[in-house]
This record gives sequence, structure tokens and C-alpha cells, in this order.
Amino acid sequence: MGSVGKLAAVLLGLVALANGQGLHKEHLECPFPEGQDVSSESECAKYSACMWEADEDACHMSNDQLAGYMVQGEPEVTATGYKVSLVKEDPSVTLFGEDVANLIFEVINHEDYHLQIKIYDADSSRYEVPVDLSFPDEIGTDPLYDVGFSEEGKPFHFNVTRKTTGTFVFRSIGPLTFEEHFLQLSTHLPSDYLYGFGENTHRSFKHSFEPRTTFPIFARDQPVGYEEMNEYGTHPYYSVIEDDEGNTHSVLIWNSNALEYSTFMDDVDPSMTIRSIGGIIDLHFFLGPTPEEVNSQYVGMIGRSAFPNYWSLGFHLSRWGYNSTEGLREVRERMKAAGIPQDVQTCDIDYMDKKRDFTYDPVAWADFADLIDDLHADDVKLTLILDPALVIDFDNYAPASRGRDSDVFVKWMSPDLVPEDQEPGANDYVTGYVWPDEKVVFPDFMKPETQTWWANELKEFHKVLPYDSIWIDMNEPANFGTNLDQPWNWPEGMDPWSLKCPDNEWDLPPYPTKMVRVGDNQSKKISDKTICMSSQHQDGHNNTFLHYDVHSLYGYYETLATYIGLQEVFPNKRPTVLSRSTFPGSGSMAIHWLGDNSAEWEQMHMSIIGMLEMNLFGIPMVGADICGFFGEPDMELCLRWMQLGAFYPFSRNHNTIGTAHQDPGMWPEVEENSRHYLLLRYKFLPYLYGLFHYAHMHGSSVVRPLHNIFPSDLTARDIDDQFFWADGIMVAPVITQGATSRDVYFPQGLWYDLENHNLAATGPVTLNVDAPLEVLPLYVRGGVMLAYQEPEVTTTKSRLNPFGMIIALDEDQYASGSLYWDAGDELNHVMDEVYMSHMTFANGSLISQSHHSTDPVAGLYISNLEFLGYPNIPSSVILDGVEQPESEWEYDADLQKLVLFTDIPLEQGDFTVTLA
Ligand code: NOJ
Repeated sequence: MGSVGKLAAVLLGLVALANGQGLHKEHLECPFPEGQDVSSESECAKYSACMWEADEDACHMSNDQLAGYMVQGEPEVTATGYKVSLVKEDPSVTLFGEDVANLIFEVINHEDYHLQIKIYDADSSRYEVPVDLSFPDEIGTDPLYDVGFSEEGKPFHFNVTRKTTGTFVFRSIGPLTFEEHFLQLSTHLPSDYLYGFGENTHRSFKHSFEPRTTFPIFARDQPVGYEEMNEYGTHPYYSVIEDDEGNTHSVLIWNSNALEYSTFMDDVDPSMTIRSIGGIIDLHFFLGPTPEEVNSQYVGMIGRSAFPNYWSLGFHLSRWGYNSTEGLREVRERMKAAGIPQDVQTCDIDYMDKKRDFTYDPVAWADFADLIDDLHADDVKLTLILDPALVIDFDNYAPASRGRDSDVFVKWMSPDLVPEDQEPGANDYVTGYVWPDEKVVFPDFMKPETQTWWANELKEFHKVLPYDSIWIDMNEPANFGTNLDQPWNWPEGMDPWSLKCPDNEWDLPPYPTKMVRVGDNQSKKISDKTICMSSQHQDGHNNTFLHYDVHSLYGYYETLATYIGLQEVFPNKRPTVLSRSTFPGSGSMAIHWLGDNSAEWEQMHMSIIGMLEMNLFGIPMVGADICGFFGEPDMELCLRWMQLGAFYPFSRNHNTIGTAHQDPGMWPEVEENSRHYLLLRYKFLPYLYGLFHYAHMHGSSVVRPLHNIFPSDLTARDIDDQFFWADGIMVAPVITQGATSRDVYFPQGLWYDLENHNLAATGPVTLNVDAPLEVLPLYVRGGVMLAYQEPEVTTTKSRLNPFGMIIALDEDQYASGSLYWDAGDELNHVMDEVYMSHMTFANGSLISQSHHSTDPVAGLYISNLEFLGYPNIPSSVILDGVEQPESEWEYDADLQKLVLFTDIPLEQGDFTVTLA
């Protein structure tokens, strides 16, 4: 190593890999575009970078020297790290052709916990994800990691290690492949405690390695199912718990092209292969070391989660197919009569006139504006759905003609791709077909002109229907029937037609990933059910982008346009946007639901996994369609799902058209139980709201897996049928048909029943707990405090009620918590307009230290302080220096519970309670 290299080694912790280190023990699978089933000696022979292993009857990647890259020359030091040149010895040794001859391996140090590694073409630029990320102004001085790579002249490998433990967090294996339309990188992982990657149909939160499992990632209108499928959003992000102590890191693969990842065992090492069909290799490592630190480090870069309006934490009722205002009123009356809490009413595409955005049906929904007034009079908000695509009726449909005037629609990348039968007036726009029975065009939300036009349409529409929030659906973007004879819902009697994509390198890439072989991909192409990859987008800087590269960003940019547009509709209010397709950073603007699930028991379980994953991805405001979208639930399934859904951060019951109603008032048992658990949710909304505030300010998850709170607890790492609200409430829903009890794992500590306040368990222990149909097992963790308010049927009402605190003591008679309060919907909430109190109970004293202003807390007070696990009747109870008479408190010796009846105005700020 020369002098620059030595300098780099000293400055940057650069470690050269010893000879042979990083070589895999087994050979790596050679990827076949048609899937591994076709593997044979003759198929293998088609790829010069592969070789047939007769004794294993398998086709493997050739050796690293032949198929991969060699390190060339000395590292070059940069302001933030260094660069190393890599060269392909023989570019004709290839998988799919067009190997990039010269690469740069670049190490970029950001924070001590944040490392970026890029591998890109040395000679020409390639597509990189255009979304902005946040980086520090100055780089860290004491990185938690070391980076190593092979010596000059050796086959290229690299590794990243955690300095404190010496554990490798990434150790590349096998040859690196970098071709025009195919990138492949494999690594050993430090353990098999691997979580994340999405949006996928995962059946367990922890990934499996045996047998080998491969999931594609590419935004797609793909309902939840049981195959290894890619769904609506794109989150190439994973985390790994490395060791028994719980040290955790995460990695973002900053690439928006179609991807897939494969997990497998390489002898005894858990391993992973990542493949992409475009862009570059751009990895961001976050070293934590705790799971929650990893989370806040990651969202610090992509954007911390949006702070939801208080009302959006209430219950949302929705369905596709109210079909008329009358139909909706009927259901709304059922909710009211049953006294079931509801804050939001959602309307699906059946409110529209001929399924056109920004319209409503003038017959069946003629009095929609009156209905909205009635909802508002009941303090219920209205969410309206919008689809991205607009019908081509430029003469009679103003939103589309204004769009054409501003030239906002997605175009073909070249005029010769415009089909001969292009709709008159549709310029060079890509035309498709979705819900309306007319052809449509797709807004290009990357363009500033589109954002302006969309904001204007949102404003105009609000004058007609005063909605409160917007649901953006079908934004993968979905297009029906692409490449087929005609869409499934094509109008009868019309000549068959569908959007057909050209046979070029983007619409027929050599390796289309597993996505073409799973789910309902009918045309077996990556453009299936979406628009062509040869479509073109444009940003505000005259850059053009191929849909091939930015397909998975469509929902992200529509979310951005909607988020900005709603700020114009509701100045200084927090926009409420619900988006189906998401990308890293979407959580800073949007709520997400987990898409079209089915009324099946296993899908309840999958919804917990999806919810945990979205929290990893920085989208904590998430939930699934309660009671299932497709199919019809029976009473038991819907009741159990309402229980679970009462603890989804985004709590919405929604179902598809043509099915029976499944709102909670449909069955007496579901009605009663839903009322109970939704009121319980409403009771603890002050706690949930505080969690969202914390997540927004500091970056953290809201819903957590057990191991985020107990990272060194090995049992906790496998559990994905229980979850937490932060580290306070543990939810253990029943997700098995017919079950009247379930096993609950209680990690270390004291656990109280959330409702009856019994000491339920002293962990670690697994107990079989009773859970008859009407019971959802819920626990408070000793050591935390939970803020609550007496519930009502809307948050507008419950927000006026007095507060209480559950003070759940741990083994050391200690607990801490907080109470956050503000106006509930202001965008720029500043600290002098909010109330924030930090409370600690230690050594017999509860000390509340608060920061507050008067406005949002005027008239509010704390009326109850409930100490759980208080061992004996106190001899004196002193509040702010005043001894309280016995009439002001109550002690239950059996429960070991002490309740103080107080009257502490929030405006008072600090207070102290001393127990003796
Ligand atoms: C697909 C969405 O996922 C679903 O929730 C909605 O009901 C339908 N589109 C109709 O708009």
C-alpha cells in the first residue's frame, strides 16, 4: 500500500482485507431470469459468468477474479473519505451483457454512526435516486465502524465492522456484478436476526434463510397474499441484531429500480444477495447501536415522521360501495346509535361522477355537501379518495384540460413510441385505463407545474366538497390490462384496447426480477398493471427520467404534491394524506394502510408484521383494513380484528364493493366489543399523541417489536404476534380462530393488566392467558407512565376531559413518563404554544416538570394519578406541600393500587406529590 493508502488507513480506519478473506465457502446462485426451476447445464452455459457444478447439479457464479472486479491502484483520499478504482479483468465474462468496465468504490463518512458506501461507473454517470436526503454539515470524528477492502491487484471485496465488538456488519462475498441492467452484490450477515425490506407479503417479521427465500421489490398494485410478492411501496431497508447483547445496525439500499433480495445460508453463515436492474450501488449504514437509535438515525436522514392531526388518531370508517349519501347515512346512523367512537368518515371512488377525480355523482350523491355539514356538526371529519389518472375528455372535464394546458402528464420517452391510435388531443402522453370507462393520462408529479396544477385542483375541489383529508390510491401507478388484449373492466361493446409497451431494453430488461413470476402478473413483464418503463418524467431542472428508474417514486411524488397542496387548502394546519404507495421519506408526509388484504385469519397476523415493518421504514402512522378488504368476515373474525385494529396507529375499517357491510354495528357482539376497545383507545390517545410527537421531533418508532425494548432478549426477537405502543403498552391480540386463550411472552420486569390493573406477570415468562372472545390481552410495563383522558365518541369531545396518569411502578418503585398537549392540528407547533411535562416517580416522590403556555391547556386539569404496584397504604400523601385528606385518595391493598383524586390545572405547570 502506498503513502496515500497509508494516510487513508490512518485517517479513516481503512482496513485491508487479508488474502482470501471474504471468499465464500459455497458458490453463489447464478440468477436465471426465468427462475431457478430452469437451471440446467445447457441454460447455465448461456452465461459466461456462470459455471455448472456437475456434482451439485447446480449453476453457480464463476470465481471472483473471472466474474467480478479487481482492485486497481491506490485509494484516493476525499473530503469525506476515500475512493478506490475497480476494474473488470474481462468484461466479456458476463451474465446479461454490457458490463461496466471501470468502477469507483467510494467510502463517505457522515456521522460517527452513519457510513455511506457507493459503487458506481467511473467513466459515465448513471441514474441515481433524485430524492433529497439530510446529511450533517460536518463529518463525525470517531466513527463506530471500520471499512476494509481487498489489496491492490486482488479480487474486490469489502467489509464493514463495528469497532467496539469487532463484529462485521457487512462482508461481501463472491463476484460483484455491475452491468448496464443488472447489479448483484452478496454478503454474509452477522446473524440471522434480519428484519425489514418491503413492501412485501412477509409471513414472519424475522426473515428466514432456510430454505433460500427471494422477494422482489417494485411498487405494484398487488393485494396481500401468501406468495413471495412485491406490493405497493418500495423500502430496500433492513436491520440486523448482530449479537447477544443486542447491538443493531441497519442498511438502506438507496436504489429505486426493480430489486430483489435473497436470503440463504452459506455453509453456517446467514447470507444475502441483493440485485437491482439499474442505478448504482449506494448503501447507507446506521450503526445504532440500539434498535431505537438505528431508527432515529435512519429517519434523521430520510425525514422524521409527520405529526398527525389529533383527530386522525381517532377511528376511521370506510368502505367502497356506500353507493349514495343515503347508503352512507344509514351506516353513520348505525355508528351513532351504537355510540361507537368515530372521528373520520372516508368515501371511496363510488362518490365520484363516472369515477372522475374532483367530481361527485350528481344523482346518488346530490346532497353530498349537506352530508358533509352533518358529519362536521357531529365533529366527524371527511376523507375523500383521489386516483392519480384523469380521463381524457379535454373538452368537458376541466381538471384534465387545465392539466393539459400546463402540460402535466407523463409522456413517452420518444415521439415514435406514441401509438398510432393515440386519443385526439392527447399529445405525446402515455394513455392507459383504470376505473373510469374512458382512457386516462397520468400526472407527472415530479414536475413543479404538476404540483401547482394539483394544488389548484385540490383548492377548487374543496370549495365544492369541504373535505378534511385526502386519500391517494392506485399510485404505483396502477394501470389495468397493460400488454393484454384489454383491461378486465373494459366497457362491453367497445373495440378491445390496452396500453402496450414496446419491446426495448427498459420494457423487456434481460433480468426482470422475480416480480414477473409472482402474484397476478399476467403479462409476465415489469410493466404489468402499470405504465410502460419507456415513459418519461421531468423534474423542475430540465432533467428527464425514465419511468424504468423512477417508477417506484410515483407515489412518493404524488404524496409530496398532495401534502404541499393541502397546506394551501388548510393554511398552517397539518395535512392529512393517506397514500398506498410509499418510498423512504413518505412517512414525513403520509399515513399508509397496508393495502388490499382479505378477511382471513392469517392476514391479521401479516398486518402486525406489516405494521412493524412500516415503523422501521419511518411510517409509524399505519394500519391494515380492519375486518379485511376482500371477502366477508364472520362475527368472530371481525370482532377480533376490531380489537387488534383499535391498537393500529391508523385505525380504519374498510372493505370492497359488492360485499356485506362490516362496520362494527353489524353484529351485536362486535358492536359492544368495538365500543369498549375503541373507547379504551380513545382513553389512551393522549399517550399515543405524545408518542407521535416524540417520533416527529426525535425519530423513533411508535409501534415496536418486543426486541426494540429488550434487544438482548433472544426470545423476544422471534415474536411478531405481540407488539408495543412505544415501550408502555403491550398488545397481545388473539389472531387464531376459535381461541379463548393465548400464550403471551412477558419480557423482564413487571406487567400490569391495562384494564383491571392486576399484576399480570413478572417476566421473563410465557404464560397462557385467558382471552375469551370479548377479551384483548393488554398490558402496561412497570416503569412507564401513561397519560389518558376520559374517552368520548369523538376526539373533539374527549380533548375537553380531565387527564389522568397511570403510574406503573417497576421493581424499584420507579416510573417515568410525559404528557404532551397542544392545539391538535397546527402545522408549525412551536414550543411556546404547547404543554410538555416530564414526570418521574422515584424515592416516593412524583415530580412533574413542565414547559407550557396557556392557550391549549386552558381549563384542562389532571384529575387522577393512579399508582400501580404501590406496596402499602401510605401514611401521608402530600401534594405541593399540602397534606391530602383521606377523602382525596384511595388505596386498594389487593391490587396494590393507590389513586389520588387531584385537581391540578395544566396551567399550573410543575407539581410534586410525596408519598410516605
Ligand atoms: C384499491 C384500494 O386499495 C382500495 O382500498 C379501494 O377501495 C379501491 N382501490 C377502490 O378505490
